[in-house]
Amino acid sequence: MSSPINAVVSLDRRQDVAVIVIDSPPVNALSQPVREGVVLALEQALGDPNVRAVVLHCAGRTFCAGADISEFGGELAAPDLNQVLAMMEAASVPIVAALHGTALGGGLELALACHYRIARRGAKVGLPEVNLGLLPGAGGTQRTPRLVGVATAIELIAGGAPVDADRAVEMGLIDRVVEDGDLLEAAIDYARTLVREGAPLRRARDLPVDLSPQEAEAAAQDYRARNPKLFNGFKAPGHILLAIKASADRPFDDGLERERELFNALMASDESAAQRHIFFAERAVSKIPGLAADVRPLDVQKAAVIGAGTMGTGITIALLSAGIAVTLVDRSAEALDKAVARIDRTYKDLVKKGRLTDQKAQTCLDALTPSSDLKAVGQADLIIEAVFERLDLKQAIFKEIDAIARPGAVLASNTSFLDLDAIASVVSRPQDVVGLHFFAPANIMRLLEVVRGAKTSDTVLVTAMALGRRLKKVAVLSGGCDGFIANRVMARRGEAADRLILEGAWPWDVDRVLEVYGFPMGSFAMMDLVGLDVIGWDREGSAGRTVQEILCEAGHWGQKRGAGYYQYGPQGQVEPSKAAVEAIETIRARVSAPQRHRSDAELLNELLDPVVNESARLLDEGIALRASDIDMALVAGYGWPVYHGGPMFWGDTVGLQGVVDRLRARIAAGEAIVLSPLLERYAAEGRRFVRD
Ligand code: 3HC
Repeated sequence: MSSPINAVVSLDRRQDVAVIVIDSPPVNALSQPVREGVVLALEQALGDPNVRAVVLHCAGRTFCAGADISEFGGELAAPDLNQVLAMMEAASVPIVAALHGTALGGGLELALACHYRIARRGAKVGLPEVNLGLLPGAGGTQRTPRLVGVATAIELIAGGAPVDADRAVEMGLIDRVVEDGDLLEAAIDYARTLVREGAPLRRARDLPVDLSPQEAEAAAQDYRARNPKLFNGFKAPGHILLAIKASADRPFDDGLERERELFNALMASDESAAQRHIFFAERAVSKIPGLAADVRPLDVQKAAVIGAGTMGTGITIALLSAGIAVTLVDRSAEALDKAVARIDRTYKDLVKKGRLTDQKAQTCLDALTPSSDLKAVGQADLIIEAVFERLDLKQAIFKEIDAIARPGAVLASNTSFLDLDAIASVVSRPQDVVGLHFFAPANIMRLLEVVRGAKTSDTVLVTAMALGRRLKKVAVLSGGCDGFIANRVMARRGEAADRLILEGAWPWDVDRVLEVYGFPMGSFAMMDLVGLDVIGWDREGSAGRTVQEILCEAGHWGQKRGAGYYQYGPQGQVEPSKAAVEAIETIRARVSAPQRHRSDAELLNELLDPVVNESARLLDEGIALRASDIDMALVAGYGWPVYHGGPMFWGDTVGLQGVVDRLRARIAAGEAIVLSPLLERYAAEGRRFVRD
């Protein structure tokens, strides 16, 4: 007999076992009503002298996926999750948690406060709070080391990756795994067995910690030394180590207090707010308003990629790895051979690194058909053109495709800045044309910009978005404009960098500031990597007018030539390039740019303010659907540090009025910046783009 406790929790009686059921879709997050419902249900169950055990179970697709993240940032209403957990742990009859789906964060902490845990095979458990810039704040850092040992707890909590149920049993995190059958029945049986056998009420809080404080300190240091990147710019991993160490050097309740203190510090940090913003941005980005309710993505089994250059090859690998058969077409047999060799090498490397089994790699390779005949694209469900970035060339290819492709095939262009509508205008079916802007290397970078043409159909659009998910990428919808979202806003950073080096800063100053901020690479180092000759250098029209032109004319094309803005030694040494210094001094003298020393903070503002401004312009123009989409695109496509949340979040954090004031000062000094009216309005009204 099941009786509702409130809208999301009910209590079911199975003779001597009480079953508390949480039913709060979609993921049973521990919102206030859930916490309150569990307390009320527990009181009722424990107050009944006929109840000899309690099972905690969740309805729907998963056990609790954690605290309700949408409640974070404000005052949390009672009851506090720690109080709920203390009440469960103190219960006078055994409580068994029955886990399925994903028991994550506060969800796993809830289970750890139960006396025993049983899980369905395939269930995943973990403490991923670190990905939100947080630490487990409901006893996870104190109970986990007591159950699995300090070293394993560090891996689990600082790493944040969930483990499957079988591994969790090996670790000692859960007690039993059951096959797919009825988890609830198995949990009830287990609870009865525990009662029958007089099993103790195993309270994690009372278990000893396996390491002394000194040993725990050594384990923490060892972890930090092995994973330096995790700590770069991120606050949470360091706090996690402090909290876990506390489990080894003080009683449980004091440890809980320390955990709470560290959790609150993280919760109040900009880093965590940024990471939580990106969590929701990633989920919002796939939602396209205004589509018909019944629109469904097309089934893509076979694809064709036209152009076997760097992009086409990367796209082919991305498709093959997602289980899509690919015909790779190029008229040049040499280009095809090179591409096939690169694809082969990529899969061999993946096998060598243990990321793929031999068999899976072979399956991917078997699904590749190279061809030098464009007619081979005829049977594809999706055709992606990835030829050289020239409109006439792309239009010619699309005309040919139009005559060959089967009716209903999606015709995609991987253009990075050309007018998609101009490409679509040459075919008889512009509704089937969409932009798929991959970022190099296309098999690795997470961002995929889906470009909507004026006539792109809703079906084609959702097919492209679904393809992004299938390729394990973040698909961001963009309207048509020069550079689309990510490249357009970041072009402003590049212009600012070029100007700054003429006004007294050196490329390595600019790069240092960007790297300290958290970008994986500075602007000039990035240009050296890509090649100065391939980023907008017009060979025929070159006349030593810019630093880049001078460097290119002298053959300093970047890393591949051993010099560009930097000089690259044979042993991997990197130092400022003398040729770059000379070129910069030449142009500085020629344009008589005003020279001024800028602090690192000033440099950063001058580099990023224009990005915020351009993001606001793009939002105003409707190129991006929402401000958070821009942040998502920059985090996934340009390595914008997730703990700064992207340009819109950063603008909100440093203050939009400050951004506007600084930009106005630069306009007054003669710079050609078009200030966004939307940005000015938000600043004047004290509003923020994405930070509530
Ligand atoms: N709180 C609030 N909403 C959540 C949530 C949470 N913990 N987890 C997921 N959601 C929401 C998502 O925003 C999404 O909402 P939408 O449909 O309105 O966009 C919906 O649930 C479904 O989520 P997904 O699209 O991500 O569904 P998937 O099936 O792909 O993934 C999941 C499910 C693996 C549970 C994934 O959502 C996830 O990883 N969630 C976060 C888990 C997490 O980080 N837990 C720790 C929270 S912090 C914490 O517990 C602190 C504690 O220590 C005190």
